Amino acid sequence: MSKPPAPEASAHESSPSRGGLVDPIELEPVFDDTDSKVAVGDHPVHAMLVTFPIALTACTFGADALYWWTGDAFWARAAMWACGGGFVLGVLAGLVGTAELLLVRGIRQRSASWTHFVVAVMLLSVLGANWGLRLGGYEQAVLPWGIGLSALALVFTGFAGWHGGKLVFEYQLGVASNGSDR
Ligand code: HEM
Repeated sequence: MSKPPAPEASAHESSPSRGGLVDPIELEPVFDDTDSKVAVGDHPVHAMLVTFPIALTACTFGADALYWWTGDAFWARAAMWACGGGFVLGVLAGLVGTAELLLVRGIRQRSASWTHFVVAVMLLSVLGANWGLRLGGYEQAVLPWGIGLSALALVFTGFAGWHGGKLVFEYQLGVASNGSDR
């Protein structure tokens, strides 16, 4: 006679990689309360805004490199605007992300959310310093410090963006539904 199926354990409790250990934070009733609270029609606003600092940080580095190569002041001016836009829109995205972090209990409980916050604030500091440097003279600022800060910002953007994707695609944070209502 076949045995009746064992009661279903939740994915994180039964994970073999944990060797039977259970993280008490994962047992909190609000652990899976991770739906985005700052969203337009279930589309999280943070995800919509982060595209701008990511793209503009890449543009800043590209414009700096073209200025170094051509010596054309147009590229130094373009880099200043791209950097300023990246900083301002990055701060806006950061404020929305911080609202999610503080308002959504399941997001606030995960250490990964706080890691993303720390990396993102480091990125915003580099973007702010890079823009401030250029306001005192956009051509003189490019070499060597401006392009150096642009390269550093690109590295931090990679970390912050990759880690943000991990929050969404691995931990399903800020995801409005589990897909069952499709
Ligand atoms: C400064 C404070 C920030 C906080 C507290 C924060 C928090 C979050 C949270 C909670 C999520 C999960 C999705 C959601 O709830 O909307 C997320 C996703 C994400 N974050 Fe941030 N974030 C911050 C800044 C940034 C910045 C500056 C960037 C730019 C590189 C960024 C890039 C991303 C990306 C790419 C995602 C994945 C979006 C998706 O694919 O849906 N975050 N962030």
